[in-house]
Amino acid sequence: MAANGIVNGSTERPKTGIKVIVVGAGFGGLGAAIECHRNGHDVEIYEAFPELKALGDIITFGPNAGRIFHRWNNGEVAREMRKYSIDLRAYGFNIHKYDTGEIVLNQKTPELDETAPNFNGHRGELHGVVYDYATKQLGIPIHLGNKIRTYFEDEDKSGILLETGERIAADVVIAADGVRSKARQSVLGYEDRPKSSGYAVWRSWFSNKDMISDPETAQFCNNGDTFNGWIGPDMHFLFSTIKNGTDCCWVLTHPDEHDIDESWSFPGKLSEVLESVKDWDPMCSRIISKTPEDRLVDWKLVYRDPLPTWVSPSGRILLLGDSAHPFLPTSAQGAAQAIEDGVTIATCLRRGGKDNVPLSVRVHEKIRYERVKAAQKTGESTRDMWHKTDWSKVKENPEIIQFPRLTWIFEHDAEKHAEELYDSTAKEITVQ
Ligand SMILES: Cc1cc2nc3c(=O)[nH]c(=O)nc-3n(C[C@H](O)[C@H](O)[C@H](O)COP(=O)(O)OP(=O)(O)OC[C@H]3O[C@@H](n4cnc5c(N)ncnc54)[C@H](O)[C@@H]3O)c2cc1C
Ligand SMILES: *[C@@H]1O[C@H](CO)[C@@H](O)[C@H](O)[C@H]1NC(C)=O
Repeated sequence: MAANGIVNGSTERPKTGIKVIVVGAGFGGLGAAIECHRNGHDVEIYEAFPELKALGDIITFGPNAGRIFHRWNNGEVAREMRKYSIDLRAYGFNIHKYDTGEIVLNQKTPELDETAPNFNGHRGELHGVVYDYATKQLGIPIHLGNKIRTYFEDEDKSGILLETGERIAADVVIAADGVRSKARQSVLGYEDRPKSSGYAVWRSWFSNKDMISDPETAQFCNNGDTFNGWIGPDMHFLFSTIKNGTDCCWVLTHPDEHDIDESWSFPGKLSEVLESVKDWDPMCSRIISKTPEDRLVDWKLVYRDPLPTWVSPSGRILLLGDSAHPFLPTSAQGAAQAIEDGVTIATCLRRGGKDNVPLSVRVHEKIRYERVKAAQKTGESTRDMWHKTDWSKVKENPEIIQFPRLTWIFEHDAEKHAEELYDSTAKEITVQ
């Protein structure tokens, strides 16, 4: 163990005797389970999916999450994730004006910091790496095909009721059950209604076959990875090529006032996408027309006001990740914040010990709450900055249109932060 108390291996800490149930095996649930294991708790995962499927498309982890991945298995997990991730050190990020197509800025990619790397890749592939580490290498028990019907708690325990009728109790339940969380109702005591953000995203991931057979688009696939964004009024189109240009992926955010659906697999129509960019740089339509229609997803972006609390009345059920705080894609922080949550709760539980679980859960919330809320807001501010671009200002100062890389988000070390704040925060809560 290093002097700052941060452990680089896996099971080096003594057992705490704290029994943790994690619900959901997304990045939030897996991250929390891995961190609980590292911190000496007894943890098991329950997941509704009967098997692991490589679902989704592009997902981003900033260096604030990379720093955490790097600590797993002496950097091995991060090295494995790197194989599936975009490498933009040569190319950077080209930002185009939507109509003329001119490149107004090439935003450079910072040098790769091995101890706090950035990852952009296919959700399914990156998830597979983390899933294998949790279940195969660490041997964390995972119960697939177990949908949680409801939650219960009293003063000294909490637990889950499965669809089969089986009840399982623990010292604490971490509900990482995503945007459609069932646990949210147990925690809040009422049903929280999502609202439309006013935007939806068309998104797709496909192989480069048709891109390379067209001389106009082959440039994006023949020289390694690329990343281009077209920014326009109320819409933006982001296109990248990954794994040395072999995979292509794009995301188009556009206004949408239709019904709210949080599904990832809602089919999209290519004709509608093409219609929406008909007045844009023709390169956008050219790229979009290479998309196989069955790979196109239309995803409504729902939003929630920040929940008043993530903690149940007895302090033994905690909402974590998207169940507590859904993010807009323009923050590029949803998954990273879920990972930070896991580190924080696992650290707090260890610091408080088995006799103080509810206190530790509340300390976690207090340490995390304002930071997460501020990070959520960047999703709105970046979207609005892009959608309301003043092009004459960009001409004078192109830097204003770059994707913000915020130091307070990226340089944060969630583990160190929780270690430093645990005692004083626990004291504040106990005195109240
Ligand atoms: C299928 C899928 C595809 C996604 N694709 C992308 C993507 O391409 N890009 C992107 O940026 N983000 C994607 N996301 C969202 C992204 O994973 C999250 O925003 C982020 O990683 C935080 O993860 P989370 O663990 O909090 O939630 P999630 O990743 O949503 O995980 C929640 C998990 O809980 C499980 N669960 C839900 N209810 C129950 C229940 N009652 N009982 C048991 N288990 C339950 C779900 O099956 C799921 O595995 C996707 C999420 C899902 C579920
Ligand atoms: C990447 O692809 C190019 C052709 O597009 C090829 O020449 C090069 O060898 C590839 N690099 C790697 C590391 O596979």
